[in-house]
Amino acid sequence: MKTIIEPFRIKSVEPLRLTTPDERKAYLAAAHYNLFALDSDAVLIDLLTDSGTSAMSARQWAAIMVGDESYAGSPSFHRFEEAVRNLMPFRHVIPTHQGRAAEAILFHLIGGPGRKVPSNTHFDTTRGNIEATGAEAIDFPAPEGLDPATPHPFKGNVDLKRLETFLKEHGLAVPCVMITVTNNAGGGQPASLENIRAAAALAHRFGKPFIVDGCRFAENAWFIREREPEQAGRAIVDIVRDMFADADGMTMSAKKDAFANIGGWLALNDDALAERARTRLIQTEGFPTYGGLAGRDLEAIAQGLSEIVDEHYLAYRARTNAYIGERLVALGVPIVQPTGGHAVFIDARAWLRHIPPLQYPGQALACALYEVGGIRACEIGTVMFGRQRDGSEKPAAMDLVRLAMPRRVYTQSHADYIVETFAEIAAAPERLKGYRIVSEPPALRHFTAKFEPLMH
Ligand code: F0G
Repeated sequence: MKTIIEPFRIKSVEPLRLTTPDERKAYLAAAHYNLFALDSDAVLIDLLTDSGTSAMSARQWAAIMVGDESYAGSPSFHRFEEAVRNLMPFRHVIPTHQGRAAEAILFHLIGGPGRKVPSNTHFDTTRGNIEATGAEAIDFPAPEGLDPATPHPFKGNVDLKRLETFLKEHGLAVPCVMITVTNNAGGGQPASLENIRAAAALAHRFGKPFIVDGCRFAENAWFIREREPEQAGRAIVDIVRDMFADADGMTMSAKKDAFANIGGWLALNDDALAERARTRLIQTEGFPTYGGLAGRDLEAIAQGLSEIVDEHYLAYRARTNAYIGERLVALGVPIVQPTGGHAVFIDARAWLRHIPPLQYPGQALACALYEVGGIRACEIGTVMFGRQRDGSEKPAAMDLVRLAMPRRVYTQSHADYIVETFAEIAAAPERLKGYRIVSEPPALRHFTAKFEPLMH
């Protein structure tokens, strides 16, 4: 088979600034070994997130010029609404400035003390927005999803048995059932169409609305097509429509699978709930025909949604991660298997066994990737999740490092460079040292904590 190429050519470029290892050492020390504190122009390949970092197409930039900035009733809103409803036929589509704003509005309305919201795995902002109302966010990932090394096709599935038991025990406290596709926190792994439908049916059997966090819906649809035998070869748009057909609503970050640099939406079928959401929207985001966005952003999203369901794009997208993953495995670097839709996750704890979890093997690897190659990745492990509410610290379930791929931004030679950087580290991984935290804020410490390398 021929190489799966980038299905685009480049018309507008952004130069990358090359730095020396010594410069990077100095930048890293000045950032107190926290990669969030680096200036992005000191980064060569930025894999911190795939969110808002997409390259827009010529058609998206053209659409931006026709954006209508009217306060109310902008035609750009209608194009946006139509583009969303073409894929996800909800009665109400409410624009927001990004995904977490949609979550905040939804849980302001249906959360609250004593409420419990089950999901396959909530993303941290979803969890944060649920917990901010006094409600509880509960994860029921499929058991396969918890074992990084097993290559199960649908590790993003929700555990239906545990969900059912939970609904039987706590049904009264549950305002909705959620599913995140793909499951970002669980490695960018997809949920099968069968599992999504079964979770919706279960929610409905208990009289609960079923809400999809659809951030990476197109990547999930691609994996359904590739890995679910009954869905093989179907058109991506048809699979997407099926994924949402049984849902009662969705939250969305257009910074992911809409190719936009900003934006999101909340979609609902329930008229009364949608009306309350719009009232809240006016208080916190803006009038219902623009949410927190400019008309031009709505145009970029509408156009992006027509591009993201292109199967050639999705084939290239999934292949990029698989390509990097295969080469890392050949180097003996343990990764979460199979590679996900938006990122490659490295199992730093398994690779750097000489660094105990409380010396942050994920942080050690992330710092080394920057120092050796100018690559910025993100620790998802004990730095992020280790601090407990009672003030104690304990190892997170896993110490992962996420290489999140911005959409349509990097090419195969960038991928090769990433692998070469790993090869340099893999020549002597025992040289990497752990870290200690010298200061941290009371919450969400990974964003601003300061670190010091341990010398032994
Ligand atoms: N849900 C999921 C599954 C996400 O991955 C994100 C963002 C959000 C909701 C929130 O959307 O950023 O537009 O407010 N994930 C980014 C990331 C930040 O890096 O994974 P947002």
